[in-house]
Amino acid sequence: RKSAPNADDIRALKGKTPIVSLTAYTTPMAQVMDDHCDFVLVGDSVGMVLHGLPSTLSVTMEMMILHGRAVARGLSKAMMVIDMPFASYEQSPEQAFCNAARLMAETGAAAVKLEGGVDMADTIRFLVKRGIPVMAHIGLTPQSINTLGGYKVQGRDAQADAVLADAHAVTEAGAFSVVLEKVPQGLADRITGDIAIPTIGIGASAGCDGQILVVDDMLGLFTAFKPKFVKRYADLGQQAQSAVADYAAEVRARTFPAAEHVFADQIPAIKE
Ligand code: KIV
Ligand code: NA
Repeated sequence: RKSAPNADDIRALKGKTPIVSLTAYTTPMAQVMDDHCDFVLVGDSVGMVLHGLPSTLSVTMEMMILHGRAVARGLSKAMMVIDMPFASYEQSPEQAFCNAARLMAETGAAAVKLEGGVDMADTIRFLVKRGIPVMAHIGLTPQSINTLGGYKVQGRDAQADAVLADAHAVTEAGAFSVVLEKVPQGLADRITGDIAIPTIGIGASAGCDGQILVVDDMLGLFTAFKPKFVKRYADLGQQAQSAVADYAAEVRARTFPAAEHVFADQIPAIKE
């Protein structure tokens, strides 16, 4: 078994081979992707896809730690990265360090991800200098939904320079890679060509150095809405619906449990 890649290994994949990643929140899903992904992200999307929250804003450190520990138990080959939840890092570099160190210590994650570009560059530098590998996340940053004015494409036209500046700022601050979420394809390609660290696209471009999707989106398990950038590789939500419907019908018809699911009263005689 190869050992899990670290931040330097992920960075070194730029220009060599596309980086494959997905989110995970539970042990069994982590086990499914361990053989296929370079890194697995314990995303704060957990709040929306598993806990029914309306946004990622109310996700807590405790939720991230609980799910991080579950994911860690399912991984042996892929690197684990964990999201810093809203309000756990924005106040100061010191606050960010305390919470990043806690996330890593209590879950075994090898790196943290946080949202922000130019505004978070000092914090990223502070963490990296103190031994915490940081993946940045720019473009559409869902924790800023209330100031971005919705989940719209970021970096169109006049906004492109700001996203480009964010990409350069996180690179110079020492981030080992950067997620580009919901930015125009041409801008994603320009950033990917410009900066020395891998870009991980979600709603960005096939030209990014890697891709990420929310696992519940790509498996068709989260169906409240489907962003344009999501491709459904399976329809497990539909399969679950029909399995539950079949079970309900069989219980009502008393055809479940069947003979093979129940226990006889007598232990059968041993045959010679
Ligand atoms: O929380 C999340 O799932 C993410 C990915 C979409 C990058 O941040
Ligand atoms: Na996230």
